[in-house]
Amino acid sequence: MRMYDIIEKKRNGGELTKEEITFFIDGYTNGEIPDYQISALLMAIYFQDMTEVERASLTMAMVESGDQIDLSAIEGIKVDKHSTGGVGDTTTLILAPLVASLGVPLAKMSGRGLGHTGGTIDKLEAVPGFHVEITNEAFIDLVNKNKVAVIGQSGNLTPADKKLYSLRDVTATVNSIPLIASSIMSKKIASGADGIVLDVKTGAGAFMKDLEDAKELAHAMVSIGNKVSRNTMAVISDMSQPLGYAIGNALEVKEAIDTLQGKGPEDLTELCLTLGSQMVVLAKKAKNIDEARQLLQEALTNGKAFDKFKQFLESQGGNAEVADNPELLPQAKFKIDLPAKSAGKVAAIIADELGTAAMMLGAGRATKESEIDLSVGIVLHKKIGDSVTEGESLLTIHSNQENVDQVIEKLYESITITTEHIEAPTLIYQTIT
Ligand code: URA
Ligand code: CA
Repeated sequence: MRMYDIIEKKRNGGELTKEEITFFIDGYTNGEIPDYQISALLMAIYFQDMTEVERASLTMAMVESGDQIDLSAIEGIKVDKHSTGGVGDTTTLILAPLVASLGVPLAKMSGRGLGHTGGTIDKLEAVPGFHVEITNEAFIDLVNKNKVAVIGQSGNLTPADKKLYSLRDVTATVNSIPLIASSIMSKKIASGADGIVLDVKTGAGAFMKDLEDAKELAHAMVSIGNKVSRNTMAVISDMSQPLGYAIGNALEVKEAIDTLQGKGPEDLTELCLTLGSQMVVLAKKAKNIDEARQLLQEALTNGKAFDKFKQFLESQGGNAEVADNPELLPQAKFKIDLPAKSAGKVAAIIADELGTAAMMLGAGRATKESEIDLSVGIVLHKKIGDSVTEGESLLTIHSNQENVDQVIEKLYESITITTEHIEAPTLIYQTIT
């Protein structure tokens, strides 16, 4: 087999076989095929697209390029959730104990990563004592016993995806549905999930800013999952404004605690119920979405989800008292309100700009080496469509620096108030089951 022929076939719009796809992924991973040939192929894929069968083959070739996590020692159907990324997205902190309280095993492998705030692990580490440095055996035992545990990412998962993603980054081929879909799905499949629920975000704060692109990506990923025997469902949700009110690590833990007690923000609660219902159905703990939703709603109001959260914190060394006393979480020194400059309706709260403001306060990492300040962030008091009076606080900045002039300037640029009538944006655009 020659790489030249594979490039030529795709350039001319042909369909690559599983063998051809495995050939170029293996050859690239082990360094036998050079960057320039893979670059040419990526550009051909960008213009010629891939069939559903090619996409599934590409995904599995990337899965098989490295280690795969074996979760077979965990009883039941393991379901994982993936979000394409947003601002103030606290859903994992809520969903993990919520679905576990219904007996769905949640073996969560999570990273720290870069971003506006930390990842799930960073957020959980805001709980004094909580740690993810546990052995694989302890992790499996905890999931079997409590149905939920979190561990840091380890092993050499999908090395082909890491190499390809770096190359796409410098060859203008990131924005390709078959390449994005196979990249995301390969990582979920290598992590050992039997069932996968995808939260595909759309809007200013999302990777897929355009709704039609988000729909296409969601359908592409569901198709790949189902083709390779991982039942997959998806939700397309809004990320034009931040989710919930809190953006920041400890602040989002507090928001998760409120939500697990049935008194969280409406949008965050709704999204958790929608995604959670799909997870419960995939794990076969309910017959259909409506029954699953009913069970989840009960778990939020009867204390089952909240108790599961406390058990989860305690089992990994965390001080579960924070659930009843959130003031035990790290607190920022200064709380500074942002008054509205005029009266009217909130027309825009640009999600990624708010994320950047949170990062300027120290809530997220700009580089892998940056330290995160778990206590800082932003708590909104208004969302799109809400009325404000002049001078009313739009949000509170939680900071450890007294001077936040630059952050304030950024926030005023990101929030628009109008005298016209504004409706709250749609939260869930589509569910794919
Ligand atoms: N996220 C991924 O993991 N892969 C992509 O290709 C794009 C976004
Ligand atoms: Ca939030």
